[in-house]
Amino acid sequence: MTQLAGKSALITGAARGIGLAFAKAYVAEGARVAIGDIDIDRARIAATQIGNSAIAVQMDVTDQSSIDTAVTETVKALGQIDILINNAAIFTAAPVAEITRQDYKRVFDINVSGTLFTMQAVANHMIKRGIKGRIINMASQAGRRGESLVSVYCASKAAVISLTQSVGLNLIQHGINVNAISPGVVDGEHWDGVDAFFAKYEGKSPGQKKKEVAVAVPFGRMGTADDLTGMAVFLASDSASYVVAQTYNVDGGNWMS
Ligand SMILES: NC(=O)c1ccc[n+]([C@@H]2O[C@H](COP(=O)([O-])OP(=O)(O)OC[C@H]3O[C@@H](n4cnc5c(N)ncnc54)[C@H](O)[C@@H]3O)[C@@H](O)[C@H]2O)c1
Repeated sequence: MTQLAGKSALITGAARGIGLAFAKAYVAEGARVAIGDIDIDRARIAATQIGNSAIAVQMDVTDQSSIDTAVTETVKALGQIDILINNAAIFTAAPVAEITRQDYKRVFDINVSGTLFTMQAVANHMIKRGIKGRIINMASQAGRRGESLVSVYCASKAAVISLTQSVGLNLIQHGINVNAISPGVVDGEHWDGVDAFFAKYEGKSPGQKKKEVAVAVPFGRMGTADDLTGMAVFLASDSASYVVAQTYNVDGGNWMS
């Protein structure tokens, strides 16, 4: 378990859920990680749980000065950043008639601008230091195809896939590989929120949507955060050096592209 020995990673939105599973998996592979999250209390608890190889960093990906400070703090504590995972995101759902500009702006500020400008800040650090780094963005099956009640989130994740392609093509000249992971339905607090939206708009009972999406997965169940860690380790490892600007579905067979 030393595929990432000596590497340092900044993972946004890693105080819980998939990002936290990535942080644990990276440490298990020999890396040190910075858990960047807007919820600093929870990030601190997560870092303490993981132990000496993890630090918590306050970070709001909608705020440029917060991104810059988080990068500076991570570099100060860990020496440099070899791997960035842009994982922080929020979900929203509404019929088109009820979408608000405020909701749209919030989702795009976090999911799209947050991903782009955190990539920019970390890539600038990597280029300055000559680091042949790795950047992994969290896309979604929602970015592969629209969904009736999910216009804004789907569009934000399609933008993440597109950014991964363009930024990936731009940064490979510096030896920085940018790729993305596209999960399907992963159980956890994020999906508790998704379930609540569908309860509201489709008149379902709490938990019903989760059961429906679980049986629809070809693998036969919802994913877990741990189902995604293998791909996150692979994309950060030496084995993935020729993988450029791709988005990988890790979704139990939900989507093919
Ligand atoms: N759970 C799923 O089914 C699923 C499916 C497809 C894609 N994804 C994507 O995977 C990633 C992780 O999902 P998850 O289920 O762990 O989500 P989650 O909601 O459990 O965790 C998101 C984390 O992001 C943090 N965050 C929110 N706003 C932030 C901000 N402005 N700045 C910094 N941090 C902020 C939150 O505090 C939280 O810790 C997300 O990009 C999500 O869109 C999840």
